[in-house]
Amino acid sequence: MGKQIRVGIAGLGNVGIGVVRVLSHNSDLLLSRAGRALTITAISAREKNRDRGVDLTKFDWHGNACDLARAENVDIVVELIGGDNGVAKDVVETAISNGKHVVTANKALIGHHGTNLAKAAELNKVVLAFEAAVAGGIPIVKALRDGLAANRVERLTGILNGTCNFILSNMAETGRPFAEILAEAKALGYAESDPTFDIDGIDTAHKLSILAALAFGTEVDFANVHVEGIRHISPIDIEFARELGYGIKLLGVAARVPDELGGGIEQRVHPCMVRKNAPINHVSGVFNGIEVIGDFVDTTIYEGRGAGQGPTASAVVADLVDIARGLRIPAFSLKATDLRPPNTIPMGRRVGAYYVRFMVVDRPGVFADIAAVLRDHDVSMESVLQRGRSRGERVSVVMTVHETREEAMQKGLQAIAALDSVVEPPSLIRIEDL
Ligand code: HSE
Repeated sequence: MGKQIRVGIAGLGNVGIGVVRVLSHNSDLLLSRAGRALTITAISAREKNRDRGVDLTKFDWHGNACDLARAENVDIVVELIGGDNGVAKDVVETAISNGKHVVTANKALIGHHGTNLAKAAELNKVVLAFEAAVAGGIPIVKALRDGLAANRVERLTGILNGTCNFILSNMAETGRPFAEILAEAKALGYAESDPTFDIDGIDTAHKLSILAALAFGTEVDFANVHVEGIRHISPIDIEFARELGYGIKLLGVAARVPDELGGGIEQRVHPCMVRKNAPINHVSGVFNGIEVIGDFVDTTIYEGRGAGQGPTASAVVADLVDIARGLRIPAFSLKATDLRPPNTIPMGRRVGAYYVRFMVVDRPGVFADIAAVLRDHDVSMESVLQRGRSRGERVSVVMTVHETREEAMQKGLQAIAALDSVVEPPSLIRIEDL
């Protein structure tokens, strides 16, 4: 057996305590797999004396997490503080510049600063690992970096936020509105008390930007990811989607755009309608699911728990084992200095099918007016549904349209919204062909 490797944990919330538990509970197994002991030597958190349900007395305590990142008796710093700036960033930078390996679950930090941190890690000859930052217990970082290394990835599609998937799955099962289910998700502890990052798609965008960098060998480009959340999804849309043979999911989509279509990488997060028998539509509740298409492997699918103490700690400890084994794989699979700007394409260039719901006054000629606007914008209708029949009253009209360019669709919708007979802003959901 080799010399022990010494671990310092900065941040003792749910995941930090999970890491302490895994390292203690599976110590024999980890010793035989890693070939050396993974020993916690130091810890740091905001409050020292809180009862966390595990014995922490044998570890050195640091009130200042940057001191832990400099400590002589630490080889790997595990950053579980969170946030894209502030203490978390200071700790990671301090660790790297002091020659310590870093394992983090911090998707915001990697989403915002991943490329620079990877460059710093390479310069200092240490590992930066972040399996736990994306999709909790699903080993998707290793799948992209190692298992699929032979492939040119064409497309990656993921349900990367358990809170949103819980809300949308429950809305579909019960027909209840978004706000009610969100309140329930908070009560169950699935949603944060401030769930903005989850429900507005930002958490998914952080994770997508990391996966896109791994998949396409590009710099992490969170700033240019198109992001929409799920607040506007209503039970009526879910019902119409069902009738049309679709489910609604919040997806992160990253895809290579062929050179003949202008080149670049699509990176977008928004609610999508997916065929009801598409594998990703069966990922429900708090689970995450990811589909990756590679040029030789074809379609691969991954599913599992995207959050929680056990799954996230499992991912953190897997990174610790890699480092203990001596694996020195670049953070984003290529040398950080070889990562190229992704040329993330603007949303207006997305080409695909759409679902649109209009609230209109029910009178003769309304369909004809809407159809005329779509014709003028070169948008081709596929199907039309109307619910209710009540002359002079408001009714819902739903359309699906064939593949079209987002720019044309948005312009068409603006013109339709201005028609007298249209009484609410149209609701648009993109249809993804999965
Ligand atoms: N808040 C995230 C989710 C989990 O709801 O999936 C941590 O990334």
